[in-house]
Amino acid sequence: MIGGAGYIGAHVVRLLQEAGEGVVVVDDLSTSSAERVGSAPLVVLDVAADDAVVRLEDVMRHHGVDSVIHFAARKQVGESMARPLWYYRQNVGGMANVLDAMEAVGVQKMIFSSSAAVYGMPPVEIVREDTVKEPINPYGRTKLIGEWMLEDCGRAWGLKWVALRYFNVAGAGWPDLGDSAVLNLIPMVLDRLQRGEPPRVFGDDYPTPDGTCIRDYVHVLDLAQAHIAALRALDGELAHNVYNVGTGHGASVAEVVDAIGRVSGLDVVPEVEPRRPGDPPQLVASADRIGEDLGFRSETGLGEIVASAWEAWQAGPRRIG
Ligand code: WQD
Repeated sequence: MIGGAGYIGAHVVRLLQEAGEGVVVVDDLSTSSAERVGSAPLVVLDVAADDAVVRLEDVMRHHGVDSVIHFAARKQVGESMARPLWYYRQNVGGMANVLDAMEAVGVQKMIFSSSAAVYGMPPVEIVREDTVKEPINPYGRTKLIGEWMLEDCGRAWGLKWVALRYFNVAGAGWPDLGDSAVLNLIPMVLDRLQRGEPPRVFGDDYPTPDGTCIRDYVHVLDLAQAHIAALRALDGELAHNVYNVGTGHGASVAEVVDAIGRVSGLDVVPEVEPRRPGDPPQLVASADRIGEDLGFRSETGLGEIVASAWEAWQAGPRRIG
């Protein structure tokens, strides 16, 4: 598991361990922490480093790895616009190193963390896997390139793979595995509340029922389960390689902020700010393909997602109140 100490990876590590599967974690710990992987062996290395291929080969041989789940990547859209080449080196170069090591050792299965960012500003209300993919920033492009690399390796040396396109991941499966970064809506609202500041709503004049942007929020534990389902599916004949992971239902920014007020019992009065450049008004997954092929459904509602995020936040060092 590469990037297994991060927010999503650590959930998958815990699920695999609970299922009695052997897991070895590779992580550079640049945005994650060792205690999140529990008793799983941890190898600290940066997949984009010069010596990464040899070191990854060693890890794979030593631990008898038969599948790789590849989470490790940089994921900040704004940063990717400011430092595009670094994003290509880290996300595309890092992935080339991982695949290189897999080919050398004969590891033939990969699950890849892709993103709804591959769709850019989709021209439809519900995004299907075959919706046009025109990413609008280097981050989204690196994810689409990652999918192409998998396709090409599949053709060249028989790699079996699944790319999961995550929509808006949130919540916590366990209170100690909450999202420690403050980069997305729910943590950003909690961070503002913690500082005693009003949360910000970026634009309330979008063509949506309440004027705020709509996203498909998927519980991180459901998303983690999707990885297990995909891993199992790699042992059979795959109908498809690429799957959206979402719920098929959207929630607006205003609804998320309201839910945070309800769950926390705090009086949450947001401040409306101008639109953030590059935000699509609505991004909601079609969850049909993954339901039909992998039998996976994400049914955790917004209230539960927010409640678990709140509980994890309150269990951390920056509790509110
Ligand atoms: C959600 C909505 C904001 C903060 C991004 C990346 C995507 C993926 C997930 C990951 C938007 C609004 C936010 C705030 C707000 N990245 N918002 N006030 O932009 O849908 O997706 O993260 O790997 O590639 O683009 O997620 O959580 O940033 O924003 O009003 O304080 O909340 O404008 O409409 P987004 P987000």
